[in-house]
Amino acid sequence: MARVAIVDPSARDREHVRGLMAGMDWAFLETECPHYETALGAIQESNPDGAIVGLDADPAMALQLLGQLNVVLPRLPLIVTSGRPDLLVQAFRLGAKSLLDRPVNLEDLSVALKNLASGISLHRRPHGQVVSFLPSRGGAGTTSLAVNLGCIIARNPTRQPVLLDLDLTAGAAAVALDLQPEFRITDLVHDVEHLDLQSLKRALVKGTHGLSVLARPTRLQDAALLGPPHLQRFLALLRIIFSHILLDLGKGWTPLDMAALQRSDVILLVGQPELVSVHNMTLQVQALSQEGLGDKVRIVMNRVGADYGGEQIELKKAEEVIGRPIYWQLPDEYRAMISAWNGAAPLLQTAPRSKVQQALAALAADLCGDPEAAPAKTAKKTLPFTLVPDHSQPSHE
Ligand SMILES: Nc1ncnc2c1ncn2[C@@H]1O[C@H](COP(=O)(O)OP(=O)(O)O)[C@@H](O)[C@H]1O
Ligand SMILES: [Mg+2]
Repeated sequence: MARVAIVDPSARDREHVRGLMAGMDWAFLETECPHYETALGAIQESNPDGAIVGLDADPAMALQLLGQLNVVLPRLPLIVTSGRPDLLVQAFRLGAKSLLDRPVNLEDLSVALKNLASGISLHRRPHGQVVSFLPSRGGAGTTSLAVNLGCIIARNPTRQPVLLDLDLTAGAAAVALDLQPEFRITDLVHDVEHLDLQSLKRALVKGTHGLSVLARPTRLQDAALLGPPHLQRFLALLRIIFSHILLDLGKGWTPLDMAALQRSDVILLVGQPELVSVHNMTLQVQALSQEGLGDKVRIVMNRVGADYGGEQIELKKAEEVIGRPIYWQLPDEYRAMISAWNGAAPLLQTAPRSKVQQALAALAADLCGDPEAAPAKTAKKTLPFTLVPDHSQPSHE
């Protein structure tokens, strides 16, 4: 899949290329630059796999840009378009790989973009990781976990997380971050096969903490509009530009939830060490295993240390019953969590030193494969619970 930028002051020519590319599902027009002067910065920022540069609007400026790109981004594949053969020759000398006559025809562009896509170098960042957050019961802490983890991941400028609120009737992701979405996930359902990346990006709302969110519908009746084919298209597009796609699920086990789980790389099953949650997690792990998804499931025990009256279950016992080791523990910290929800902001802003925030940061590091996720001695000392993933085998599988 190739992500390309187009540089062309001619709105008509840009539109023409955009139209030709609409039918190519191996290439996406990610950035449009109407000015040669600002194109270099825009390309550096969006880091595309290649650029299409129209030369005819201002040949001198266009060639100057090619010269700059040749020096600053020598490995960026360039496709140039012009009605003048002499300009195409000059562009070739400046490193352009594909030379297309203007007006560009579908076949030439298609061949050029296929070459570009097949030559995408190994340094290309990997496709986004899809992580589902699956509740074992209402109030398990699934949304708290997903939203805060997303904001932690967004702190790293090399990562771009996005959260899809798939709890269509009760989701609270936008509320948790005080976001006022202009569009909702259900605004994207019409003609989804032709949905492009630009339209999908426009429907996202980005908070000050860098997490992009696709919000749940406000009209509850609209929930029924969204099905597996929509999600499939959203994920195919989002994986191109986002490093982490977080799916905040509801409790329904609807066809949409199943599609989300099937397309996830990791499923974080969120529960608490109490009777109902552990019972549900046991059944959920069984069901997920029967669906062939057992390997993706990781148990996250939230609110460890809370007082559950007589319903408290020891962690070792929970592992035995569920038949899985606990992957991560998050401490019960009511004040910190409430400060985040009341402040409609992530813990990293409202309670950055809280233990639950530290545990989430360590979990984010482990999910992202960061070196600091390795067993941290200091963390063990300061925290009254295990931060190290517990890989001990359960007593029965
Ligand atoms: N680790 C925690 N310590 C204390 N309270 C928590 C913790 N995690 C979540 N909560 C509280 O639990 C409530 C439900 O959380 P939420 O994330 O909405 O759950 P879910 O999405 O699973 O329904 C919230 O009020 C939140 O403040
Ligand atoms: Mg929730």
